[in-house]
Amino acid sequence: MSTATRLQAMRPTDIGVPGPTPGDMARAFRSVRADPLSFLVDVSARYGDVVAFPVPGTPALLLNDPDDVRHVLQTAARNWSKETVQYAALARVTGPGLLASSEPNWIEHRRLAAPAFHHQRLEAVGDEVRAAADAAITARLGPEFPGSGEIVDVAALTHRIGLDAVGRALFSADLSGHAQQLLDATSDAAKLVVRLGRSILPTAAWTPTPTNLRLRRTRHRLDVISSELIAERRARGKRLHTGSHGDDLLGLLLDSNLTDGEIRHELVTMVIAGHETVAAALAWTLMLLAEHQPAQDKVRAELAGHPGPVPMLGHKEKLPWTRAVVDEALRLFPPAWALSRRSRQDDVIGGRPVPAGTLVIVSPWLVHRRPDLWPDPLAFRPERFLGGTGRSGYLPFGQGPRLCIGREFALGEMVLVLSRLLSSYRIEVPDGWQRPAAQAQVAVHPRGGMPLLLTHAAARHG
Ligand code: HEM
Repeated sequence: MSTATRLQAMRPTDIGVPGPTPGDMARAFRSVRADPLSFLVDVSARYGDVVAFPVPGTPALLLNDPDDVRHVLQTAARNWSKETVQYAALARVTGPGLLASSEPNWIEHRRLAAPAFHHQRLEAVGDEVRAAADAAITARLGPEFPGSGEIVDVAALTHRIGLDAVGRALFSADLSGHAQQLLDATSDAAKLVVRLGRSILPTAAWTPTPTNLRLRRTRHRLDVISSELIAERRARGKRLHTGSHGDDLLGLLLDSNLTDGEIRHELVTMVIAGHETVAAALAWTLMLLAEHQPAQDKVRAELAGHPGPVPMLGHKEKLPWTRAVVDEALRLFPPAWALSRRSRQDDVIGGRPVPAGTLVIVSPWLVHRRPDLWPDPLAFRPERFLGGTGRSGYLPFGQGPRLCIGREFALGEMVLVLSRLLSSYRIEVPDGWQRPAAQAQVAVHPRGGMPLLLTHAAARHG
């Protein structure tokens, strides 16, 4: 490549979209790293629905208009791959599992995993998810729990529940022996993914940088645990659930023609995608309910009025208020705060031609805060979700063919965990309450945890 061609490739491609200049970006460098969510909110307030970032080569656009978002994620999804820095970074931890992989093998893996998330199967795993919630709640808030209540980091609690629920429901495995190791390894992995995704200069995977060395160790830990899970399951017999409810995910994977390496990628993907997100979403939901006592009372009353155990599915009809609370919490605090795609060929977005190789970033965090779609967008108002069906500009689980495969599982788990916690405990904000900052990692977490005051529900209400 000649020097002139190389210089040309370093220059941003101007397609007439407004956005920050390289100087603005250099000045904002630290704040972008420290708080990317606020940075995105600022640039979209300043430049509007389509923002161009000054990166070398092909354009990089932030899209906020729900029609443009639908075009990229759904209507023209075939033209928009996951070949982006974000997913390349994730793939260095998970390997090319379902979440990070680009076609062609994605669809084959998706079809293979799908039965583990079908309705029949989800109905069958309700008991496992309930058991995961009860085990963590008893361990942390059991008989020793003081009658006067205690400040509890509910984010730590929901992490443990999230991990245990994935293990029991998808692998029929008790992860408690591995729990601490897995929590440490996945939280390390999440930090590394963020660091890799933000580094400007890509380094070859074999370069012995501190990040690469840590990454190698973390991957090794996750691989060892996955290999143990596979070996344990082979020893017990692959097919544990042969009834009408179908097999769990691990059974399906072991029954397929995937290699052990490919199975490990899917296991690590599910552990990372399936517990961090739900855990963060639950922590934010509990915070919102602690701040809004009447909404919490209404959830408790609705759950108390439900005959029999709370189901994994059908909440819109059976527990409409509780489900609306969950939907609204996912609007205000969508754990997956940024999705990215790259165009395979030239395309047209909102009437504007964009070349092949264009990078697009979609932030549910921003779309969910559009005042034209969500009046008084920062207010917690679950009633927005009562009645009605699908809504434009609501995408906590993505959109189109790459929609979250764990969506129903996650929603079911959230409602079940809320029912287990709220039936026994009242949740309030402690004195001098200040919301934890939203920290955008792989998921949006409360920085420093979510300390809330828990008391026995009966102790306060006779
Ligand atoms: C509140 C919880 C969750 C949220 C907010 C969430 C969000 C998302 C989003 C936004 C995507 C699409 C990413 C994109 O298009 O770029 C996605 C994909 C995915 N999620 Fe979730 N997720 C959650 C829970 C789960 C659970 C419980 C599992 C599994 C047990 C899971 C597994 C996956 C997988 C495997 C994909 C990739 C699907 C594919 O591309 O075919 N997620 N998730």
